[in-house]
Amino acid sequence: MSFEWPRDLFESYQGVVLREGVSLGRLTTIGVGGQAPLFLEPQTLDGARETIATLHDKEIPFRVLGGGSNVLLPDGDLPYAVISFARLARVIRDDGALIAWAGASFPGLVRGAMELGLDGIGGLVGIPGQVGGAVRMNAGGKHGWFWDVIHEVELIRPDGTSFTLARADAHPTYRNGGIGENVALSATLALKPGDKKEIYERMQAILREKHRSQPLTEKSAGCIFKNPKESEHSAGRLIELAGMKGTNIGDAEVSRKHGNFIINRGAARSKDVFELIGLVREAVKSKFDIELELEIDVWRV
Ligand code: EPU
Repeated sequence: MSFEWPRDLFESYQGVVLREGVSLGRLTTIGVGGQAPLFLEPQTLDGARETIATLHDKEIPFRVLGGGSNVLLPDGDLPYAVISFARLARVIRDDGALIAWAGASFPGLVRGAMELGLDGIGGLVGIPGQVGGAVRMNAGGKHGWFWDVIHEVELIRPDGTSFTLARADAHPTYRNGGIGENVALSATLALKPGDKKEIYERMQAILREKHRSQPLTEKSAGCIFKNPKESEHSAGRLIELAGMKGTNIGDAEVSRKHGNFIINRGAARSKDVFELIGLVREAVKSKFDIELELEIDVWRV
């Protein structure tokens, strides 16, 4: 599939860095994925709006890549432009509030809040990615959810215009921030003053527990499936009971440590991971009659 764009697309605009043929695998935590024909990195918040508005006006298809920790990208040449907010990585303190731009590191935000003695997101330690993805996915787990501490977010519509969404008007649920087709640009957090040492110690305890139960030192995209509502068991437990731990296709392997993780042993391709996801779903379906739903974002060609 070919992908074309006008060569003078951002010629007179300084707010975005444009590169061609960028390999995306190394920008994801599982380490698989092909090339973006056009890779755009806005350098300012206005640049982000302008980038999306321009692509919209020229009818150029695009996707936004966050921290790459919860996505499975296709192999080969992608038929759309890819935008990264990695250059929009600021976190600004504004009295009691923190304003985090979409490209800020999520672990960096959690750690930074602790350093400032701000409580409320320490329970989200160990979650990878960027702030934008955490807004979209309502990152979290048993120790809390990102949207619990969000006061408001700034979102860009697909046409490049932006607006503020207050927490009271948002309806985040499990693994879904509810922002729809809009793109997160920044999040303003409401955090409470706390004791730095206590926050730090709690974070350490959570990290130790995560290391015990999850393959954090392997390349992976985190949990692949949502925990199903219709079962008392987690997806990881169901996958273990279906006997799928350790099953592999090429270098893609169902983790022996946690059944809901697929790890890349080195040279896995997207195709391998995708086929393995299919095998796992079939095994759980045939043993428990449960259709596991994807938790990761799978980009199609
Ligand atoms: N379990 C097994 N076998 C396994 C994996 C888990 O028996 O292979 C059992 C555990 O022993 C436990 C239960 O299943 O009794 C739940 O497991 P765990 O505590 O690991 O939590 P989870 O439900 O599998 C969820 C999130 C994780 C998050 C953890 C901790 C989802 C899909 N996953 O996992 O999120 O880190 O809670 O808060 O909601 C992610 O989204 O990428 C992710 C890793």
